[in-house]
Amino acid sequence: MEYIGPKVYIDLNHLENNYNLLSKGLHDIPIMATVKANAYGHGAVEVSKTFERLGVRYLAVFTIEEGIELRKAGVKTDIFIYSKLNHTALSEAKKYNLTLNISSFEDLNHLKDFQDGLLKIHLKIDTGMTRLGVSHKKAEEFLKEATKLDCIIIEGLYSHFATGDEGDLSYAKKQLNRFNSVIELSKKLNINPSLIHCSNSGAILNLPESRFNLCRVGMLLYGAFPSNEVPQDLKIKPVMTLTAPVVEIRDVKAGTPISYGGVYITEYDTRIAVIQAGFADGVPRPWYTEGYVKFKNEKFKITGRVCMDQLMIDVGSSDVSIGDEVLIFGSNSNGTIGTNKIAKAIDSTPYVIVTGIGIRPKRIY
Ligand SMILES: Cc1ncc(COP(=O)(O)O)c(C=O)c1O
Repeated sequence: MEYIGPKVYIDLNHLENNYNLLSKGLHDIPIMATVKANAYGHGAVEVSKTFERLGVRYLAVFTIEEGIELRKAGVKTDIFIYSKLNHTALSEAKKYNLTLNISSFEDLNHLKDFQDGLLKIHLKIDTGMTRLGVSHKKAEEFLKEATKLDCIIIEGLYSHFATGDEGDLSYAKKQLNRFNSVIELSKKLNINPSLIHCSNSGAILNLPESRFNLCRVGMLLYGAFPSNEVPQDLKIKPVMTLTAPVVEIRDVKAGTPISYGGVYITEYDTRIAVIQAGFADGVPRPWYTEGYVKFKNEKFKITGRVCMDQLMIDVGSSDVSIGDEVLIFGSNSNGTIGTNKIAKAIDSTPYVIVTGIGIRPKRIY
């Protein structure tokens, strides 16, 4: 049986290109490659193995389960867990050598009972994201409490920016100042974690002084800029390309409503092609008012609402046939459609677009 449907092409050479470019741009400051959420939809195992081969210092996932999946697939590199501590999974963390995020006094309390050896942890300080982390105002007490535990190795100290990818960096700078004060405090207390980290993709580009000795990177490695408010000189290449086949072509008269709601009405007699990919596959649903696909470097407008499994395009008299694979986003011989471009048009972000890939499209590495 032949597979007919959307395909996600993952270009591991582009991933390698992006990693090498970034490492060079960071003057070899080590990278913690963020591979959570199935490596932003790109495939956690394949992507992690590529980073491992390239010598990445750390990998980061969100949950313990994601970390275990990588270990079972043979990944040996250090793995950091971003999520709130799952205190029922300390033995698993030890067994699979996963480094834990400790972000509250309550987390420290849970560690007290651990008796099966040493757990590697990073202490998280909230400097203004207001998500996880102990407030920078209570950092002294937090650090002191942490040193009382002998079942942990305090390997890292870190924080996270709320606005690192924005043009106005005043808030990010405030966060950075707070984090710097916590680092000073930690030195005074003679707590010297070997890894200090704060920057994500946006901050790496916008606030080089926030790089410290480890950079937590996701989006840039996957070949998209986190926003349109960061310097875009780095020649990163999109790693993910989504394509889908033409499965039907029909002649329609001027004045024909197309797709749900009939919000699109043809202005002239034309040919409409049905493409087998919809929002369940990762085509953003709002990407039809300005949206288009590309084939042989020609743009074809998406006509009407994107459906769950299909979408329609106006191909007029162009040479498009059943079986042709059109480009939905990414880059291939048909052209390029950047996720940043789509994100801007639909008031979203490239993060939402790449992680929105469904389970149905066939993945090709
Ligand atoms: C705590 C933390 N650090 C780093 C990252 C990587 O961010 P980016 O993809 O913007 O580089 C994320 C991603 O959301 C994160 O949650």
